[in-house]
Amino acid sequence: KHVVLLFGGNSSEHDVSKRSAYNYYQALKETGKYDLSVVAIAQNGFFLDAKRSFEIMNQADEAPLVAEYMASIDPKETLAPIAALKDLPPIDIFFPVVHGNLGEDGTLQGLFRLLKKPYVGAALRGHAISFDKVITKEILTANGIRNTKYLVTYQNDDQPLTWATVAKELGSPVFVKAANQGSSVGISRAENEAEYQAALADSFKYDRKVLVEAAVNGPRELEVGVIGNDDILVSEIGAHQVPDQGGNGKGWYDYKSKFVDNSAVAFEIPANLPEDVTAEIKAMAKKAYQVLNLAGEARMDFLIDENNVPYLGEPNTLPGFTNMSLFKRLWDYSDINNAKLADMMVQYGFE
Ligand code: DAL
Ligand code: MG
Repeated sequence: KHVVLLFGGNSSEHDVSKRSAYNYYQALKETGKYDLSVVAIAQNGFFLDAKRSFEIMNQADEAPLVAEYMASIDPKETLAPIAALKDLPPIDIFFPVVHGNLGEDGTLQGLFRLLKKPYVGAALRGHAISFDKVITKEILTANGIRNTKYLVTYQNDDQPLTWATVAKELGSPVFVKAANQGSSVGISRAENEAEYQAALADSFKYDRKVLVEAAVNGPRELEVGVIGNDDILVSEIGAHQVPDQGGNGKGWYDYKSKFVDNSAVAFEIPANLPEDVTAEIKAMAKKAYQVLNLAGEARMDFLIDENNVPYLGEPNTLPGFTNMSLFKRLWDYSDINNAKLADMMVQYGFE
């Protein structure tokens, strides 16, 4: 079977994706079952040929993240998607490892469908739905899956959502998030009018629709892996270290603390939680996977408050698979090593 891994992409998660792809490549190679090719997507959204892509993937390492290598790529080297794929040996299945835009919003899955090829992970619809933070919350809420209180505002709204309304309905602080973005980009914390206005302006750079979300008191961040299609497997729960001892010092994990300065690296598997809370979180993760139309793989992120009440934070439909990623460690803990996991994901693939 010829598996084509795709990585990179035009989002801020480009370099994270390179590391995830490197690990999946090694894992698939270890199975000894597959012929492998890799195709990189450059920062301009165009594709690179397989030889160049392979070279770039192998630059993956755990050095501080910088958008180092894409700068060195001449846009003239990049190819239209079909042109980059047409010289490959016949493709049996695509394995997208592109986080954020293109990979996690359903775009690549649309390409695979047009090419009539099977692919790993959720269908276009599952990704597209889960990538929109507002639609996700509406579906979770409709299905009784606890999530934080929220309001929605739109650019050029006739009646802009005021700070007074936000503070009254949601309390303070709040998180302001572009509806469609990954990896903590376009997200700010606001606890007064000035911060709220600045946060809105930032979020509106990324999307016309913005989510304003209540904070959770004394939160811990938890992550749960979910894999499968009809038979769904839920991993143990992983916890990051308490935010006031890590993250960005502001009580949450931003892009930098997740991927650049290693401050999110301390973790606990399984998270130390009462048995009933553990069971509730796993059930919420599984149900969310179902109602959001997910398949193949996902990671559900939770916040838990000081009274151990869990809230589903967000689904990640193409979770990071770097050496720092909890998703990878969670399955390792369950004796599903990287090779086995990657192999299972290929088996889950469908057209
Ligand atoms: N968006 C990153 C890659 C993650 O959730 O792991
Ligand atoms: Mg995410």
